[in-house]
Amino acid sequence: MLAVIPSGEILGATIAGLDLSRPLNDADFAAVRRALGAHGVLRFPNQQLTPRQLVDFSARFGKLEINVANSYQEPGLPQIMILSNILENGKPIGMSDAGQSWHTDMSYSKTIAFANVLYGIKIPRRDGKTLGNTEFCNMHAAYDDLPDDLKRKLDGKTVLHDFNKFWEMMRREKGSKRPPLTEAQRRQKPPVSHPIFLTHPLTGRKVLYANPGYSMRINELPEAESDAILALLFAHQTQPKYRYAHVWEEGDLMLWEDIGTIHNAVADYASHEHRLIKRCQVMASDFGEDFAQP
Ligand code: SIN
Repeated sequence: MLAVIPSGEILGATIAGLDLSRPLNDADFAAVRRALGAHGVLRFPNQQLTPRQLVDFSARFGKLEINVANSYQEPGLPQIMILSNILENGKPIGMSDAGQSWHTDMSYSKTIAFANVLYGIKIPRRDGKTLGNTEFCNMHAAYDDLPDDLKRKLDGKTVLHDFNKFWEMMRREKGSKRPPLTEAQRRQKPPVSHPIFLTHPLTGRKVLYANPGYSMRINELPEAESDAILALLFAHQTQPKYRYAHVWEEGDLMLWEDIGTIHNAVADYASHEHRLIKRCQVMASDFGEDFAQP
């Protein structure tokens, strides 16, 4: 019997009583989707999943992305991206620095992300403390709290998002060993624009859809004004009052929605403190042109 246990914080709930290695029945699927709308970030503890079962569970929520940074796919299952700092025979088995700054996945894409599904296989610990949290901020609340005059000013405006912004920031500021994107990768993901406010497909409420990782420019404003307002929005949306931190346990399956949240993978562990997570990304293909441009 499924139980939804809210975190009591601004985001987050634990879903108890489900074995995700088995297909969800329609009633449980509907309950999980409702909980996703209500809490944004869901934890399913104590799961034991094969890669195939991870893909099957994720695909219940929509079409799965095959990521443009495709060197770390699960063999035979390109829908799974491996996030890890583990080396095997001196070679990385996964992407070691994915998501280590505030962003939401695939805002740089014509079809944006609806949800992320992450399965925690190895979680680093030091002195009894779990490391490598994933932090989230609530974009329903961030929108609600914007001053009315700013809401009116930005209503109907669009934001340009670029995959390369996050990539280059990781190389420049975080000492990432990522090589620059190739021309072919850049052509695959050219910058795209989306409305700055979206009506969330699960809640019917407005959210702020901009993020420090990928958002470049408010298209309809002069550059200096766009820069100033984006800086204000980035500071606003990442305030501690909107934050929720997920502390991982091995066997956690995390499902979060990407339209009403932004997230940050906390890089507080060393290279010998191993983290291994397998991730699927569900695209927002089913929600109309604000979410999936032709
Ligand atoms: C991501 O941005 O999807 C990665 C999050 C994490 O590894 O905690």
